Amino acid sequence: MSERSEGKPVSLWVATAGVTGYPALDGDLEVDTAVIGAGIAGLTAALALKRAGHSVAVVEAARVGTGVTGHTTGKVTSLHRLAYTALADRHGVDTARGYGQANQAAVEHIARVVSAERIDCDFRRVANFSYAETDEALALVRDEAALAAGLGLPSVFTSDVPLPFAVKGAVRFENQAQFHAVKYLQGLARAVDGGGSFVFEESRAVALRDGSPAIVETGRGSVRARDVIVATNVPFGDGGFFDARCLLHRSYVVASRAGSLPLEGTYISVDDPMRSILAVQVEGTGYLLAGGEGHPAGESVDSTERYRRLAAFSRDRLGAGGAEFRWSTQDGLPIDGLPFVGIMPPSASHVHVITGLRKWGLSNGTAAALILADTLCGRVNPWARVFDSNRATPAVSVARPVDRDGPAAGHALPAPGEGSVVERDGEKVAVYADPAGKLRAVSAVCTHLGCTVEFNSADVTWDCPCHGSRFATDGTVIQGPASTSLVPRPSPFGQP
Ligand code: FES
Repeated sequence: MSERSEGKPVSLWVATAGVTGYPALDGDLEVDTAVIGAGIAGLTAALALKRAGHSVAVVEAARVGTGVTGHTTGKVTSLHRLAYTALADRHGVDTARGYGQANQAAVEHIARVVSAERIDCDFRRVANFSYAETDEALALVRDEAALAAGLGLPSVFTSDVPLPFAVKGAVRFENQAQFHAVKYLQGLARAVDGGGSFVFEESRAVALRDGSPAIVETGRGSVRARDVIVATNVPFGDGGFFDARCLLHRSYVVASRAGSLPLEGTYISVDDPMRSILAVQVEGTGYLLAGGEGHPAGESVDSTERYRRLAAFSRDRLGAGGAEFRWSTQDGLPIDGLPFVGIMPPSASHVHVITGLRKWGLSNGTAAALILADTLCGRVNPWARVFDSNRATPAVSVARPVDRDGPAAGHALPAPGEGSVVERDGEKVAVYADPAGKLRAVSAVCTHLGCTVEFNSADVTWDCPCHGSRFATDGTVIQGPASTSLVPRPSPFGQP
């Protein structure tokens, strides 16, 4: 791992949670519900179903918490910047109310689960703020606060904002929360596993068949189930055209050592550039988290510069010390602003999906999971209609920021900690040199649709510029739409 002034390229949550050791699925199994993906949506649904008397099996391609949930900020809130104004304008007040109530119920559900399952995850109740620094933004937060209060949410407008720099006012939601995202997921997994239900790790789903039973196949086994929930961020086996209904968006977080300024509450700016802020204590050490610098996935950007700006913001405006950790992730922004929860695709009978959590996945993912748990238990969920995966949605044609062939391949040996795409016998090979100079080579051809990957030196990953797939330096998929790894190749340089 390369260490720089922006800290280690690993999520604070992943780095401090310890590692789980659930077995890989080996053989065939039959349960009531199979869940693909051990993030917050999949595990929340699995536990709710288990507590309702169902048997469940969760299959996770990597380890619990190492996906998108482990790369969030850890905010648990129903205040999503200015979401209610936008949703009410677009869909009407009833839909905005449904979205808000589902998310607020998710916050309370998480609090109940933490307590009922005795999950030690640094869960804390805090106020959450969307703050304005300009007169223009001030008018927006006043409107948002009034609208949200009218929807029955715990919202007020305040000009008393406990940030260490001057702001004009904010929407304040009471009794929201923050937690250690991976420790929470590990607690969910502990509660799911056992008593006829299972968590399997390092068990990537490779095929999915609808029917009675529906079948999920992994490399070494299969799960037959009455129902399957696909909770993999970018849906595995996408039959619902979600790639045309969601924009995949990247965002970045830097965790710096907390300075001497106390910071209570969690925050997001309404003015641009958007900044998401909170303070956390992990194992006795205080950190300040600053998130932002988002952009469409696949856009070629200087990630190092983005991390630098977040670290500088924490230092200059929040009095933070040096950066310790940096991470990024991607999430789907549904183009009509509402997550997708329900049957996938419309013609399916037993395959359900959760996607498009719009970067507020801790609450939206929980809300979505509870909707599906109700559906599978034959209960009516009051918010299912708002999140319906088969609602009419305008489609986007996603602009491809670069040409499919990517940059020209070179011939140079990468420096330690760097990677480069080189051409050998007409084949493009992605070569990474670890900090000790040891080379690791994989095919540079993205397994989704064949674009050429590029090295992201800030995150130490191979990223695809076409639709945003990301791969570790050993070729393992970190984020889809690709679902299979980059194939190992001999190093074109041998091993210097
Ligand atoms: Fe689509 Fe790479 S070709 S993500």
